[in-house]
Amino acid sequence: YTIDADNLKAHIQPNMYGIFFEDINLAADGGVYAELVKNRSFEFDSHLAGWAQHEKNGGRGSVEVIDRRAERPENAHTIKVNVTSNTGFFGLSNEGFRGMGIKKGEVYTFTVTTRKPAGNAVKLLVELHDAKGAIIGKGQVRPTSADWQKYSVKFTATATDSKASLYVWLQGKGSVDMDMVSLFPQHTWKNRPGGLRADLVQKLADMKPGFLRFPGGCIVEGRDLQNRYQWKKSIGDIDQRENIINRWNTEFSERLTPDYYQTFGLGFMEYFMTAEDIGASPLPILNCGMACQFNTGQLVPLNELDPYVQDALDLIEFANGGPETQWGALRARLGHPKPFNLKMMGVGNEQWGEQYIQRWKIFTKAIKDKYPYIKIISSVGPYAEGEEFNRLDKFFRSNNADILDEHYYKAPKWFLANAARYDNYDRNGPRIFAGEYAAHSTLTTDALKKNNWESALAEAAFMTGLERNADIVIMASYAPLFAHVDGWQWAPDLIWYDNLRAYSTPSYYVQQLFSLNKGTDAVPLLKDGLAVSGKDGAYATASVDKNTRELIIKFVNVTDTAKSLTFNISSGATFQKTASVITLGNYAKDAVNSLDKPKNISPVNSTMAISGKVLNTTIEPNTFKIIRLKML
Ligand code: AHR
Repeated sequence: YTIDADNLKAHIQPNMYGIFFEDINLAADGGVYAELVKNRSFEFDSHLAGWAQHEKNGGRGSVEVIDRRAERPENAHTIKVNVTSNTGFFGLSNEGFRGMGIKKGEVYTFTVTTRKPAGNAVKLLVELHDAKGAIIGKGQVRPTSADWQKYSVKFTATATDSKASLYVWLQGKGSVDMDMVSLFPQHTWKNRPGGLRADLVQKLADMKPGFLRFPGGCIVEGRDLQNRYQWKKSIGDIDQRENIINRWNTEFSERLTPDYYQTFGLGFMEYFMTAEDIGASPLPILNCGMACQFNTGQLVPLNELDPYVQDALDLIEFANGGPETQWGALRARLGHPKPFNLKMMGVGNEQWGEQYIQRWKIFTKAIKDKYPYIKIISSVGPYAEGEEFNRLDKFFRSNNADILDEHYYKAPKWFLANAARYDNYDRNGPRIFAGEYAAHSTLTTDALKKNNWESALAEAAFMTGLERNADIVIMASYAPLFAHVDGWQWAPDLIWYDNLRAYSTPSYYVQQLFSLNKGTDAVPLLKDGLAVSGKDGAYATASVDKNTRELIIKFVNVTDTAKSLTFNISSGATFQKTASVITLGNYAKDAVNSLDKPKNISPVNSTMAISGKVLNTTIEPNTFKIIRLKML
């Protein structure tokens, strides 16, 4: 093998490897959004879904759902709890999202918005119960106002349970109106009240992602236009963010009962702030006037597209505008005076055909006229079987599109066969964003075992091809990102969790290793004068990091035998005699990580010696190896 370390062939974008986020598999509500109460504002179609009624010590009562649509269309339902007995307790419990994850010693904040008739001295007793019914935390709230008012109480949990539930007992005859019943752990990401699960965001931060794409995925489109993602409804007070049914509700899986809604507690402000927290460029994708073409395929007539286009223009102003602008001022009022430095935006997700082209033209003109610096990510839709590149490529090429969003969910063998996909790609047109991809193993039908080593290794092999072609493939993200082990509809996924724990899949480590070891410029790594992209089961790329002055070799051996290799390096520099090595591999193809064995497959660091500019090494079977050589 030869490496021409001084021949900087392709600049690698600093933000090349990023994150695709979508609220699928209980990723937001029930996942990274740390709210523990399901259906907190009674907006599910079945208004008491997730809630049960209880009577204790002779207490009696009832619950009425109140429709206040005329007054508050965006939060149209509340409940009236009537206690009809003088003694005992009447109460409601909430089951959480497949239970509630409660940790011993953690402080929880219960909040509720209530009003009650004057003179009615009612008391709310709040309890956390473990799965067996034992009380593992409690507090109380005394509503005092006849007008809607928010009350809260903090208390510490005395035990850990992943399937706990919340009880709210009322004592004393009378009635109370309630809305926005909420329970959050105090310890969230950056300890923001009403924030995100810290362990899950930490996993994202640990990838040092270059960008964060949000909010999807198909939920951008919605099954129908009524249920599309509308960013303006996802900001501001949480009780004013209109809940909608999640596009993935019950989809594909009997595990998901019809209870998957979007509360938008994780909304656009939180997405932008999280991206900023973890050093990622924000990449919002917006609806382009088309509902999911795999679903209803509803279309907005071209002469009614203005509000959709305006949403895109307003979003750019929201992200980047100064205090003198309407939307920039709103961002400042919401707590972020500094702009978010938005540079790119997706128009439509997985859309195709003439209908997309018509809408794409209108969006592109409006965005580029006002904000010429914004790069537009265009959907090329899914590929028909046997189709190598999408039919829209031609249109986008002749219309100077910036970046094309390609998606590939394929068997591992497709990834191995396509590692050279971009080697001879036309350099004179749009750049490529490998926006959603994952190898779907055919070794198993068990969803939690699909994230096996076979898939991760194939992704690593494929990614050597992306990096070698970093001049044309400028961004890449695995998808989907998150999945709850008790409530998912799509597998494999990058990170799995229950209500208390989480684990990174082998694919996560592949993504992380590429992100942390990308370098600044790809340089030629050849065998017999050719790129190393599959012959004899070998896949490789090399890059130089101009900042740290290192040569980085990535090698993937997908065979069952070890490979003894010699790399002859040509470079004006000399190299430190000890190189650092990261090895992920030599696992059985069906090996996986799990909640109980989260590090079964994880990178191992070591060192190796190099003599002059010749590197002799062995790459173990089924292994992805990274070697970093320091230039002197
Ligand atoms: O990642 C899951 C889904 O796959 C996304 O929502 C969609 O864009 C693609 O079809």
